Amino acid sequence: MGEWAVLIEDNGKTHVIEIVDDVRKYKGLGVFNTATLLSDLSFGEEVLIGQKYLTLMPPRLPELISGMARRAQTISSKDAGVIIARLGIGEGDIVLEAGLGSGGLTLHLAKAIGSDGHLITAEARSEHAEIGLLNLERASSCFTGFPQHTHLEGMIEDVVPELEFDAVILDMPVHKPAIEKCAPKLKLGGRIACYAPTTSQLEACWNACEEAELTIEWAGELMEREWGKTAKGGMRPVNGPFGHTAFLLFAQRR
Ligand SMILES: C[S@@+](CC[C@H](N)C(=O)[O-])C[C@H]1O[C@@H](n2cnc3c(N)ncnc32)[C@H](O)[C@@H]1O
Repeated sequence: MGEWAVLIEDNGKTHVIEIVDDVRKYKGLGVFNTATLLSDLSFGEEVLIGQKYLTLMPPRLPELISGMARRAQTISSKDAGVIIARLGIGEGDIVLEAGLGSGGLTLHLAKAIGSDGHLITAEARSEHAEIGLLNLERASSCFTGFPQHTHLEGMIEDVVPELEFDAVILDMPVHKPAIEKCAPKLKLGGRIACYAPTTSQLEACWNACEEAELTIEWAGELMEREWGKTAKGGMRPVNGPFGHTAFLLFAQRR
């Protein structure tokens, strides 16, 4: 077992735990020494902590996402997967992301870029950056390869570095100034993704990308509908909200 592991409750609640020889408080679990309690266990084994049985599992990306510290609203795997695929992000890319927020998307980006890539994040609010950077630090200990990471404090439009990017992702309430400053820094063929919770924001992104001479490739939303087994057999959509996350726009520098 490495420095980090996850403990999963029966209800799926996931706790990301550092294996350290020190008595610490773990929110929702209690006060204990993880090295003493867990070092002799193997992944897949159960442990009783207080009244709860928890399963010890390796800290893979989905577990790190489930158990991440949260403050700002995160981009979910549904949207992260398509952002990575449509921007063509992979090994060795130079990728700019703003705002970092809780780092939900950033964890996916770091995994996709790998150790040869460079991930640049920017965040306007230090209290959000604190959470995002904590999640990234954990991930850097858990992933086998982790990109070079540069974090910039401030509004991205004020701090864009002198680099050329393979991809830029902007998740923020006001995109236009960021698009104006980031679009010229895209490599030829590089792409930008804008994540916009409302239609007026989406339209503003479309207009700003066109003004920045980018070619719009796709705009819209992704809907996800979960299915489950019924008590009497067969499968059907599960009851629950069919919620909206945000609209996405992809554009390319040609
Ligand atoms: C919804 S959160 C980002 C969540 C992140 N994508 C995730 O998956 O966890 C939006 C963040 O953008 C930050 N922000 C807003 N405008 C910004 C700007 N112009 N430059 C950098 N960060 C900005 C906010 O402080 C906030 O933390």
